[in-house]
Amino acid sequence: MEELRQTAGRLVSGGKGIFAADASVKSISARLAKYGVAESEEERRKYRQLLFTTPGIGEFVSGVIMHDESFRQTDGSGKLFRETLAEAGILPGIKVDRGTVDLANFPGEKVTEGLDGLRERLEEYAQMGACFTKWRAVIVIGEKIPTREAIKINADILARYAALSQEAGMVPVVEPEVVMEGGHNAERCAEVTTQTGKIVFEVLAEMKVDFGGMIYKVNMILPGRENREEISDEDVAQKTCEVLGRIVPVDTAGVVFLSGGQDPVTATRRLNAIVKHDKTAWPMTFSFERALEQAAMEKWLGKDENIEFAQKELLYRARMNSLAARGFYSGEDV
Ligand code: 13P
Repeated sequence: MEELRQTAGRLVSGGKGIFAADASVKSISARLAKYGVAESEEERRKYRQLLFTTPGIGEFVSGVIMHDESFRQTDGSGKLFRETLAEAGILPGIKVDRGTVDLANFPGEKVTEGLDGLRERLEEYAQMGACFTKWRAVIVIGEKIPTREAIKINADILARYAALSQEAGMVPVVEPEVVMEGGHNAERCAEVTTQTGKIVFEVLAEMKVDFGGMIYKVNMILPGRENREEISDEDVAQKTCEVLGRIVPVDTAGVVFLSGGQDPVTATRRLNAIVKHDKTAWPMTFSFERALEQAAMEKWLGKDENIEFAQKELLYRARMNSLAARGFYSGEDV
């Protein structure tokens, strides 16, 4: 338990954050294809190599979450990515859920799969050097959803996963993401995020998960993507801190935010506002994917001659978010 707590502390301290580079094969391939990159394991490997070998990235990133495919891959010299990262002082993490499917009898709602055989998979990842794990549940807002039943089943699964991850000696990153899709306002997002968080923490406690050895990954409180409401950074910060204050127990190791498809600079600005807003009991930082790697992907275009350029973009975004994680972000360097 003490080791779990130390690892969790390392992941959220020092102004560093987590790089969630764990998109599934299908979704990373689709994103890369938009920039003309062929859909193959080798192209995905080259892309991940570019990201994970970015010089200096360890100054701003405490941990990287990988997908099973990249967890087993090597760089050009035959060294495993997870070893390259560990040498750069970055903790290697692994996404262990197997994605979402429709929840039977609950139209529009999702449930995450992957519990079968999880104990054995966790054991293997721990032996391969993973220090932490992630599981993402998806909560959708609609006219009559989410239902209590959908939240409850996802919470039960998250808690079972978290207990197994701690049993295997790895810090769980427990992520119930209230997705931005929809026309709802920020108040509705706050209401659903609160309801979800309360149920999730209730079940985590029942399953005897040690909060000091886990990280809570959550969405910021925002209006839905199709809602035209303008919201200031201060308002996002105030609402987000208020919701988190109601749901996250004081002994939780840390809270990290997903970017959820926000524009990268906006996500950085809002993170900064949240961190500055309130003194919370737990540290808060980023655990972004798109908001960290978008610019690098746009620059790379699958071409070797663009690698350095793309790495500079990733390093820059990581530095901006590290400033924001300490509340020191004052705008983009030009
Ligand atoms: P985004 O920052 O792109 O939302 O991804 C973070 C993540 O891990 C979602 O599960």
